[in-house]
Amino acid sequence: MSLSRRGFLAGSGAALAAISTQHSWAESPLYWQAGWQTAPAEGYASTDMTLIRGELPADLKGVLYRNGPAQFRYGDQYLDHWFDGDGMVHSIRFEDGRAVHSGQFVKTEKRIAEQAAQKFLAPGFGTLGDPSYPVSSADATNAANTSVLRVGDDLLALWEAGSAYRLDPVSLETLGPKTWRGDLKGVPFLAHPKVETNGTIWNLGVSGPNVGIYRISADGSQTDFGLVNIGVPAYIHDFAMTERHLLILVQPWIYQKQTPPFTNSMAWSPEQGLRVLIVDKSDFSNTRWAELPPRFFFHTGDAWEDADGRIFIDLATYPDSQFVEQGEADTIEGKYQKPAHSGAQMAMIMIPKKGEASLTETGLPAEFPRIDPRYQGQARNQVWMIDSEQRDFAPGSSKIRRLDWQTMVPDMHDFGREHMVEEHIFVPRHDSAQEGVGWLVGTTLNMKERATEVHVFDAMHLNDGPMASFRAPYAWPLGFHGTWADA
Ligand SMILES: [Fe+2]
Repeated sequence: MSLSRRGFLAGSGAALAAISTQHSWAESPLYWQAGWQTAPAEGYASTDMTLIRGELPADLKGVLYRNGPAQFRYGDQYLDHWFDGDGMVHSIRFEDGRAVHSGQFVKTEKRIAEQAAQKFLAPGFGTLGDPSYPVSSADATNAANTSVLRVGDDLLALWEAGSAYRLDPVSLETLGPKTWRGDLKGVPFLAHPKVETNGTIWNLGVSGPNVGIYRISADGSQTDFGLVNIGVPAYIHDFAMTERHLLILVQPWIYQKQTPPFTNSMAWSPEQGLRVLIVDKSDFSNTRWAELPPRFFFHTGDAWEDADGRIFIDLATYPDSQFVEQGEADTIEGKYQKPAHSGAQMAMIMIPKKGEASLTETGLPAEFPRIDPRYQGQARNQVWMIDSEQRDFAPGSSKIRRLDWQTMVPDMHDFGREHMVEEHIFVPRHDSAQEGVGWLVGTTLNMKERATEVHVFDAMHLNDGPMASFRAPYAWPLGFHGTWADA
């Protein structure tokens, strides 16, 4: 949002509300606005989704958990950035041929205060907030809205600048902030942890140029923590991991000065390039840097090393930080114009043991890359993603893709123009199945039917279309990331 527009909004709240109510979204044939409509405060009770295509594979049993912003306005007060909406965690339980949806807001300190006041108060990623709102710690502004992690008995709602929040994995009721170890209360915990084949969880927590490294046992009971310094306070949303190394990608979107909200404090500094700090997992003091051309990114697929010690990282790159700075502010208010800036594309970084690193961009429009989780940190060929094309008539895309890095042959399904796709995740058919043998499970917003759908694909044959699709009797707001838990 530009400063001039912000000024306009500050003085014209009532006028804007009048315009919004005059504009009838109900007349729109493709109701994309449903993706940014505030969910019911009481959440969604367990609701059977209707089977509309195929049938559920008999051996697919478990729960797709997803998280995403679900509070966008109080009266005529809209959020200024998509990333600031209170998190709602959804579960879609697959069993006996059925898919059952439920969803609950994460009852964070921020949400409890704002629900009581019926207005946005906390400063956020791109939302200014009320200067009188007390911010005693990062968790006072925690929206818990980005992803989910299943560990031990807990389901965790993840954010990035503060604590994870514990939820009951069945009722989705909030149990409170997660403290991994007594001395780590309130220490940031990113929304993109990496899980080794043996269940060990690695994650980062970022504070300025200091990057905390978590190593957590598979059951969540033991936490080791260390620190590295990346020299600059860059924005870190995700990272990558091989069997031996953590790869901290330091992009040139860098904190300059305290000018809330967060996006106004940051500046695109392309002269700094995209640099990768390679950290030895067994000795955090053993590090080296690789340097690449300037790019913005949110998400990696992950990384691996080959027999020659070359490191490969697949990721979705943007040419610059325009998308993150805009933050879908107009979309939240129900107005859509095809963005002038570019979407992301699938890319591969290669870092040799010695010599120059390279970045190869494929031209394949992509976001939300996901891999077979059994291959986290290991050599693999497959990555699944949603398309990132920019459409004229509605936000988002209608396509999902798989790319085989060995053959470079893409596999694709197009749901059709009435759909907006969300992240799809890979679920292995069984523990010892080959890479890619399993299902791809994910949601779309059907803008014509005004309903959220969930789809199951044979993960290696997206082109065949969904094996099963279910439709909810309502649309819930678009989310960011999910995870799968076997029944
Ligand atoms: Fe993310």
